[in-house]
Amino acid sequence: MRRFYKRKGMVFFSLLLILLLGAAAVPRYFAAAEQKPGTPVIKTIESLDYNHVKLTWSEVKGADGYRIFRKTADTSWKRVGSYQARSYTEEVESGVTYYYAVCAYIWTDDGKTLIPGDFSQERKIKAVTAAPSASVKAAGWNSAVVSWKGVAGADGYRVHRKTDSGRKTLANCSASARSFKIEGLEPGISYTFTVRAYANTSQGKVWGKFDADGVKIKLTLGTVKLKAAENTDSGIRVSWSKTAGAQGYRVYRKGTSADASWERIAVVKGQSKVSYTDKKASVGKKYYYTVRAYRVVDSKTVLGGYQKKGVSCTRSKNMGWFTDSEGRRYYLTEDGRYTGVHKIGSKVYTFDQKGFLKRTIDPAKPMVALTYDDGPSASTPEILDILDKCDAAATFFVVGNRVDGSSAYRSYVKRAYQMSCQIGNHTYEHKTLTALSESGIRSQMKKCDTAVKEACGALPSVMRPPGGSRNAAVDAAVLKPLIHWSVDTLDWKTRSASQTVSSVLNNVKDGSIVLMHDLYASTADASAKIIPALIKKGYQLVTVEEMAAGRGGMKAGKRYYSFYR
Ligand code: NI
Repeated sequence: MRRFYKRKGMVFFSLLLILLLGAAAVPRYFAAAEQKPGTPVIKTIESLDYNHVKLTWSEVKGADGYRIFRKTADTSWKRVGSYQARSYTEEVESGVTYYYAVCAYIWTDDGKTLIPGDFSQERKIKAVTAAPSASVKAAGWNSAVVSWKGVAGADGYRVHRKTDSGRKTLANCSASARSFKIEGLEPGISYTFTVRAYANTSQGKVWGKFDADGVKIKLTLGTVKLKAAENTDSGIRVSWSKTAGAQGYRVYRKGTSADASWERIAVVKGQSKVSYTDKKASVGKKYYYTVRAYRVVDSKTVLGGYQKKGVSCTRSKNMGWFTDSEGRRYYLTEDGRYTGVHKIGSKVYTFDQKGFLKRTIDPAKPMVALTYDDGPSASTPEILDILDKCDAAATFFVVGNRVDGSSAYRSYVKRAYQMSCQIGNHTYEHKTLTALSESGIRSQMKKCDTAVKEACGALPSVMRPPGGSRNAAVDAAVLKPLIHWSVDTLDWKTRSASQTVSSVLNNVKDGSIVLMHDLYASTADASAKIIPALIKKGYQLVTVEEMAAGRGGMKAGKRYYSFYR
């Protein structure tokens, strides 16, 4: 018991001592209460990326530092840091909602006691993926490509389009995707896109931040590519290339005066209608033309770009290529329409007697001139049938007395000529010209010319001396180019269709002139094989005149064996 009292006495003494000391400390205690720091305000709190958050707070005057506290819905406040600075960044778990509060503190003057202030109002934050930095680029008149930079922690991306009512999801993309193409857009409309990443976290799928302003684009219709402005018989025809997205075109014209400005002269409806003929162009005047594509979007007309320089043409009358209402082409010169064979540009054109285009030959491609001598005969129509069927032509060196007024074969010459075959002069009576006087040669030539002219309406422009017999006197007297040959089939000798066929097919080359005779059924049979076979090999079957026109021409009194390139 004594021992107990003794201890009790010690306790009492101690309490007394504390009271005394405490009374002495009172002024100090009140001083500390006055020094309690103010309360900071959390100014910003944000998710930096999928697993970092950052907060900043207002300054508290006189504070020596700040303490940061954190809790979640399931845990209580925990001090996570103590800082002099007024910002705090922390790694946290993605997708979890955290609450933060901050308080300021001061140290007592003796540096022994820390006096904390009150907690700031708490703020909450969730670490989510950052907003991807995006851009958008046009891909044609109705598509755009949205591209973005990847963000840390993203498990995928979603591309949105901003609409009046919010956001419309356009695509869900993988974590490795960095772009997405949006099709089916319209020109003239401003589109806004934004990209948002998401992360798969313990909390489920957590959507990241996104740029609410997004990236904007307004697509445009392309610039119409002008092709030409050219004269036709009805006016100046302007043509252009089909333009993607166009529903039609506007055609503009201006004159050549310094102050001339574009004036709309027509609207051409439909994407595929890509020409317009200006019928109001005055003869002798030069005009410029340009064209713009249009498209109606939301009942507004969106126009494409246009070539500022335009294409020009001086309205002339009766010059150049024309097409009549039935689609037949002809070529007008100051002297009227071309008939016969003409080289225009790089091509050789054959026009019929009325001036309509019949055949077009490309001299840059292989061609062969088949020639038939000594006819016409009963075998000629068969050869003409084959040529007609194959859309090919040949040259017939006819003997005058076989086509004159009394001949049953006369109509064959007319038919051949109308098919765009060429009729050559092979003398009136198949005479060996080297045995004749100059006047005898002239007479043979003239009588044959007359007979041919009467038969088909045109004079022969070339001749072939019978048997190939010629000398300088013959060359001078015939007054036409002398057409020999480079492939001699000897069909007159063999009378064998198969030998004639192989003779031609084995020896022919680009520019060859082939000698045959339309007197023989065997040659007609051979022709039925030769003509399609040559076409199949890529040869154009042409007349001597067509071949010459494409390969340097011919002159009277000169000899030609071939027209090799
Ligand atoms: Ni002959």
